[in-house]
Amino acid sequence: MVREKLMIRSALVAAGLLLGVTVGIAQTDPIAARQQEMKNNGQASRIGAGMVRGQEPFDLAKAQQVFNTYIHTADNLGKLFPESSKTGKTAASPKIWDDRAGFDAALAKFGAEARKGLAETKDLESFKIAFAAVGRTCGACHEGFRVKQN
Ligand code: HEC
Repeated sequence: MVREKLMIRSALVAAGLLLGVTVGIAQTDPIAARQQEMKNNGQASRIGAGMVRGQEPFDLAKAQQVFNTYIHTADNLGKLFPESSKTGKTAASPKIWDDRAGFDAALAKFGAEARKGLAETKDLESFKIAFAAVGRTCGACHEGFRVKQN
């Protein structure tokens, strides 16, 4: 019991440190910060896909963590595309700045589906549906606002 509490405490401390680092990067290097948010998305999606494919047993806490990661990204991404970050080592499309309303709408859709997923996931079946719905919003934004990688 005590050990569990300690583990939870150190996990929380680690998460807090990570958040502090992310905030620090956001101010100095928005490109790195948004790419880190996206890497977090990618990692969460790998966990989700593992459960959807049955490679990992379904775990409600893990599924909720997947959506919480997405929600965190959705809430933070908007401010990480200042005008000054159009160029550099980035796959962000110039369309983000040409059609900011469209980009913001894609981001809002992603956040809304993630919140819906968190609320509606009860078991593997409901997770599959919600996870796929969020996945479509990832794809839609990348299609419109990310430069194709070779
Ligand atoms: C509202 C738009 C938007 C949404 C939604 C979105 N992405 Fe992205 N994503 C981007 C943009 C723009 C980039 C390029 C960022 C850059 O290079 O500056 C990117 C880059 C990435 C990368 C590459 C990161 C790297 O290493 O540089 C991954 C992985 C990724 N996204 C995964 C996801 C996943 C998974 C989801 C959904 C769970 C998602 N994204 C949702 C816009 C979005």
